Amino acid sequence: MAMSSLTILTLLALCHSSIAFRKFPEGFTFGVATAAHQIEGAWNVSGKSENVWDRLSHSRPEMIADGTNGDIACDSYNRYMEDVEELTYLGVDFYRFSLSWARILPTGRLDVVNPDGIRYYNDLLDALAENNIEPLVTLFHWDLPQALQDLGGWANPKMIHYFRDYADLCFKEFGTKIKSWITFNEPYEICEDAYGDEKKAPAVDSHGVGCYLCSDTLLKAHAEAYHLYNETYRPVQNGRIMISINSIWYEPSDPESAEQVALAEVANQFKFGWFAHPIFTSDGGYPSVMVDNVARQSAAEGLLKSRLEQFDAYWIQRIKGTSDFLGINHYTTHLITGAGVDPIAKSPSWLKDIGAVTTMEVGGDSASEWLRVVPTGFANLLRWCKSSYNDPPIYITENGFSDYGTLLDYGRIKYFNDYLNEILNVIYDDGVKVLGYTAWTLMDNFEWRAGFSERFGLYYVNITDPARPRKPKLSAEYFKELCATRELPKDPRFFEPSFFRTECRCFFLILIVWYVSE
Ligand SMILES: *[C@@H]1O[C@H](CO)[C@@H](O)[C@H](O)[C@H]1NC(C)=O
Ligand SMILES: *[C@@H]1O[C@H](CO)[C@@H](O)[C@H](O)[C@H]1NC(C)=O
Ligand SMILES: *[C@@H]1O[C@H](CO)[C@@H](O)[C@H](O)[C@H]1NC(C)=O
Repeated sequence: MAMSSLTILTLLALCHSSIAFRKFPEGFTFGVATAAHQIEGAWNVSGKSENVWDRLSHSRPEMIADGTNGDIACDSYNRYMEDVEELTYLGVDFYRFSLSWARILPTGRLDVVNPDGIRYYNDLLDALAENNIEPLVTLFHWDLPQALQDLGGWANPKMIHYFRDYADLCFKEFGTKIKSWITFNEPYEICEDAYGDEKKAPAVDSHGVGCYLCSDTLLKAHAEAYHLYNETYRPVQNGRIMISINSIWYEPSDPESAEQVALAEVANQFKFGWFAHPIFTSDGGYPSVMVDNVARQSAAEGLLKSRLEQFDAYWIQRIKGTSDFLGINHYTTHLITGAGVDPIAKSPSWLKDIGAVTTMEVGGDSASEWLRVVPTGFANLLRWCKSSYNDPPIYITENGFSDYGTLLDYGRIKYFNDYLNEILNVIYDDGVKVLGYTAWTLMDNFEWRAGFSERFGLYYVNITDPARPRKPKLSAEYFKELCATRELPKDPRFFEPSFFRTECRCFFLILIVWYVSE
């Protein structure tokens, strides 16, 4: 019996819908992100003082993979109009960038305000406004003035006041032009990588101790900045303010293993819950499993007190609820293989306190050892955030992929496409309130200890050319189409040529069904 044209049409429609044709919801916004130290350069001119990354990359260049530094970076201090042109070309709704504390306040404190620093950010904000690009501005993206580090940095409780003062000045100077603020970018990286280890500047490496002193200060500083904004500035400036928490999402390597499932939950509480639980739960304070584990380990080490000091009732209350949205930076998923001390854990340390063994043996590769491509992990993280934190409104404030700097960056496009598709899945299938997406990053830039060896940009930057020319990669064209159409681009030019792409498979499926039915 001949297959009716109706059946063929139905099959076509089914195939079509299986390739994720859903649009992002009304009001969903797209942007790209950068950070001051990674792009600005001009490290020692126009009144800017030294920050902890200047200090590390100059005094210990062997700590940076390719021996580079942020002295010039993308030269955005001088070429910010090129940045704005790129943003305009991409058609983004917003641009996430950070303010350099050492450029605005060279001593870190309010004693000296650098007029050139204020002027620079006003010029950038004005250029964005002229092009209808909303600023999303991070107060602290890792580049602490060295003068404050010399006083102990985030291990010094006085930082609560210095940060509040700095935030106050920024709200006052820029607040009429900025409607969306982020206090801290990735507190985990600051506290664990920079104070509990030496993976980030200032490389304090006070493992198991400094990391928890830092989180105590940082969460209080965040809360103070939030309350200042909420009470003094919001009534007149009408903006919103949040924190961006980063995640490596942990999953059990064997989903059937109850032990691994339980340990993955512990690891997620240590990683994400460390900073999210005090702010986004109704109980507040650190996750109880974290409190228990560190207390138990500390006792076993013969210490009189836990290395993780709990917040008192005042601070639990003061920190709770201090974020208008949950900002999530997400890149990757790692696995938990069992209980015990991770072979790479220092003693004592945050990692040892978890009590689980982790592995990166999962998903596809990138140029960064830690960055494994596991799109489904993103969906699992988002569903977990919905259920753990009472269904918060979420902004993805970073997501991206590293390679070595190719213009035909199919790997990056596939990463964006697959991760964005998971966002669509959780929005439509699970009702997770994801409101916006930020790609990391506008252009190749100084990737911290990886220097320029790992590249995350939508634009290629030639860092040996003094003019720092930027060239759109294929992923820039992909992102431009995404911003314009609000759905995942389907143009075959964005995808590595492959015969067995989904559309081809669908076509052959229809042919076979037709042939059989003949
Ligand atoms: C600024 O740093 C550069 C190196 O990046 C150096 O050559 C220059 O002399 C410094 N300028 C000042 C004013 O210190
Ligand atoms: C923010 O301010 C509003 C209005 O005064 C108040 O109702 C709310 O509780 C404040 N938020 C927090 C977390 O304190
Ligand atoms: C980068 O710039 C340098 C200096 O202008 C030039 O020699 C080199 O060919 C450029 N590299 C690329 C990939 O464009």
